[in-house]
Amino acid sequence: MKGRTDIVIGVQWGDEGKGRVVDVLAADAGVVVRYQGGANAGHTVVVDNEKYVFHLLPSGILYQGKSCVIGNGVVVDPDTLFEELDGLAARGKKTAKLVVSHAAHIVMPYHKIIDRLAEGARSEGTKIGTTGRGIGPCYADKYERIGIRAEDLVNPEVLRDKLTRTLKIKNDILTKIYGAEPLDFGEIYEKALAWGRRIEPMLGDAFLEIDEAVKSGGNVLFEGAQATLLDIDHGTYPFVTSSSPCAGGACTGSGFGPSRIDRVIGVAKAYCTRVGEGPFPTEENGEAGETLRQKGGEFGATTGRPRRCGWCDLVAVDYAVKVNGLDGIALTKLDVLDEFDEIKICTAYEIDGKIRKTFPSSCAELAKAKPVYETLPGWKCDISKCRSFDELPQAARDYVKYIEDKAETPVVLIGVGAGREDTIRRGL
Ligand code: GDP
Ligand code: IMO
Ligand code: MG
Repeated sequence: MKGRTDIVIGVQWGDEGKGRVVDVLAADAGVVVRYQGGANAGHTVVVDNEKYVFHLLPSGILYQGKSCVIGNGVVVDPDTLFEELDGLAARGKKTAKLVVSHAAHIVMPYHKIIDRLAEGARSEGTKIGTTGRGIGPCYADKYERIGIRAEDLVNPEVLRDKLTRTLKIKNDILTKIYGAEPLDFGEIYEKALAWGRRIEPMLGDAFLEIDEAVKSGGNVLFEGAQATLLDIDHGTYPFVTSSSPCAGGACTGSGFGPSRIDRVIGVAKAYCTRVGEGPFPTEENGEAGETLRQKGGEFGATTGRPRRCGWCDLVAVDYAVKVNGLDGIALTKLDVLDEFDEIKICTAYEIDGKIRKTFPSSCAELAKAKPVYETLPGWKCDISKCRSFDELPQAARDYVKYIEDKAETPVVLIGVGAGREDTIRRGL
């Protein structure tokens, strides 16, 4: 008997509602795995009117008796991890078992400082608008092969040796490039040892946890953070994050082979948002954008920044279908469109006077893209109580069908509210 394995990833620029979709699907899963990113993520789950925001903990953590895994591809900020665990304990919540891969890299204090200094030093037009969580600098060290891994925190001698070498480089960068104060070795070393003492019981072979669960018939969910258009390779580079949120990242970031993946589910908002800098062809700076922001509560779950809002972009959805091999789309926040008389949806771009239906790999090209819209009628009623596709008003069903026709991919789940129960499942 083999369990089913699903990857759940973001289709757009993040914040599509991946956390809430994972929370719904986790009811049938044995293990939920985060495989990339770090505390730059903010995944919201609402259960019984109580709201939880997870930055590092997989969104299955609220299910006692199940397992949650932080894979090798994640960059872990232990302060945030422990804060999240303590926060749940303070709320009296029992949690799933947590396994952190030995090989996950640790976000060190200098990563966060350098992230913020580097962002501050970027000129207008080149700023990325990072979350300041040390993500880029931590992944840079991983690939430079000078990173500190979770396993190093519980090996004082190795930690001393690695930290001595790495901190020398970091202090050179801090003092000589940014004119900042150097960091004290003793302070960071002691902090890292304290992290090690707390994280030790959680360390494990993440890939084995997943392998054993699947072999014993349990379902596994791989929970992407960020999204396709923020992917270091496939996103709108350089306005991207430093990891691989796309489906392929689930395998490298957890140690699970691609032949064992059953389905890839892309989470897309019924409209579109972006936080931080970079091109966004369907962005609406006027009244429609403001209505989406207010009705959708579009303020960052990690940084509180107002999210940029606009219409759904089917050129981008089609791109996500192709680069991830999507089997299904989970369409969230359909209820946010309840009030609109008309809903626009982008079906092509006009770039330098030419119509183009495929997503350009060049960010400069994308920045020139003018959306070509189709306008569909709104439904002008509250859909938040609908629990089946047939209960939705005709115009809402037509909107969903329009997306699945154009994307040539079925919409397998629909969100009509933030709560766990505010969900229409269509074969997922
Ligand atoms: P994630 O990063 O992809 O997990 O998404 P976020 O949690 O950052 O942002 C999604 C926001 O939309 C959160 O505030 C969710 O509670 C909320 N949300 C998710 N699905 C729905 C939905 O179907 N309807 C409404 N109204 N809100 C939703
Ligand atoms: P979830 O998982 C939306 C954006 C940042 C910035 C860029 C790089 O909640 O969908 P980074 O700190 O990663 O170096 O920032 O990526 N970004 C996100 N935007 N949702 C996220 O996560 C994001 N994580 C990073 O705003 O533009
Ligand atoms: Mg988010």
